[in-house]
Amino acid sequence: MGTENEVKASIPRWIPLLGGVLGSTTCGALLYAWSVFIKPLNAEFGWSRADISMAFSICVLAFGLITFIAGKMSDKYGPRIVVAIGAILLGVGFFSAGFATSKMHLYLTFGLIAGLGGGLVYLPPIATAPKWWPDRRALATGFAVVGLGLGSFIMAPLATSIINNPAYGWRYVFYFVGIAMGIMGLLSAACLSVPPKGWKPKGWTPPAPSADQGVVKETRDFTFSETIRTPQFWMLYVGYFCGAFAGLMVIGHIAGHGIDSGLQPMQAAMVVSTLAVFNAATRILIGYAADKFGAKASLVTIMAVQVAAMALLYPAGKDVVFLGVIAALIGWNYGAMFTLFPSTCLHYYGPTSQGANYGLLFTSFGFAGFVGPYVGGMLKDITKSYYVPFIVGAVVVAIAVLMIALVKAPAKKHV
Ligand code: 2OP
Repeated sequence: MGTENEVKASIPRWIPLLGGVLGSTTCGALLYAWSVFIKPLNAEFGWSRADISMAFSICVLAFGLITFIAGKMSDKYGPRIVVAIGAILLGVGFFSAGFATSKMHLYLTFGLIAGLGGGLVYLPPIATAPKWWPDRRALATGFAVVGLGLGSFIMAPLATSIINNPAYGWRYVFYFVGIAMGIMGLLSAACLSVPPKGWKPKGWTPPAPSADQGVVKETRDFTFSETIRTPQFWMLYVGYFCGAFAGLMVIGHIAGHGIDSGLQPMQAAMVVSTLAVFNAATRILIGYAADKFGAKASLVTIMAVQVAAMALLYPAGKDVVFLGVIAALIGWNYGAMFTLFPSTCLHYYGPTSQGANYGLLFTSFGFAGFVGPYVGGMLKDITKSYYVPFIVGAVVVAIAVLMIALVKAPAKKHV
């Protein structure tokens, strides 16, 4: 029945995992199904693809940059209040996008308000769930991000059916889903809390301290200002930027590449779904692997495979099976980053400032998401082919491999 000194938790520890799944699913619906709106918005207003895509770019930038504040606030005030504020912004922003009559309206509601809300919902569960699972930290991180994949599965067909229903149309997607997002975000907030000081899972004994870079690694715990003064943090930052840049560039263009290479639109859509399935599944499975083999080793491996996959993407375009396999690999490696980077950050810098530390690290994703798909489109327009953008993607990921392979666990004198 446990010892007398055992600190009791007020909730079962799967509840924060559920909070992570709910929160990340709302974020997935926000970010990864945007392309379904391009056609109806173009049909109603005649806005160009670039103009409509700008709303998505603003959303990704706002989402990515607010995570730093979300993490800092979550460390200070706890995750619940931050996620609750985010849920309200996300719901209100998405809902209000349904009233859009101008591009500015869309940029402000879907782009800025919902984007900020999404970042506030996304980050705190990533910093919170592993605190309840010190024995399975990467796996718990995986649960906090898995919904980014799930959300797009649910959202893409749901939104398409609402858009195609003559009684509704695209505005109703924003109304219905905006309300659902707000509710799911609030439920996520209700599931999140930090464990009481001194709590540990029943029956779990922390591993015996072992040396890593001359320090006791299990007790390594950096403050935020110590973290950002280590070069390792910035090497991870560059690695994350490069990995996200290339991944987002491909996600934005893989369907176009398939069609340009002669595939049917239906085949190209299947390739996109394959990428999405693997992008979701990896988040949990790689977390399981990382708890066994180490987050950094797993990260170097998946990034190295990503270089090869990017290099093969162009020649794979002509054959639906070949392209499907490459899309699966790319989705797998891309999605794995969102479990492995926070896990590596947590492993290197400890749990106390994980919100602020990982919140800052994740801003690299915001910048990458803003420029990656755009640069891909620009290179394609200039060279009239996807060959150059995909090779650029492979080179950029190779830089990430180098950065991450070179990074060594930071040493801290006192523990
Ligand atoms: C992710 O997929 C938000 O894109 C980020 O987890």
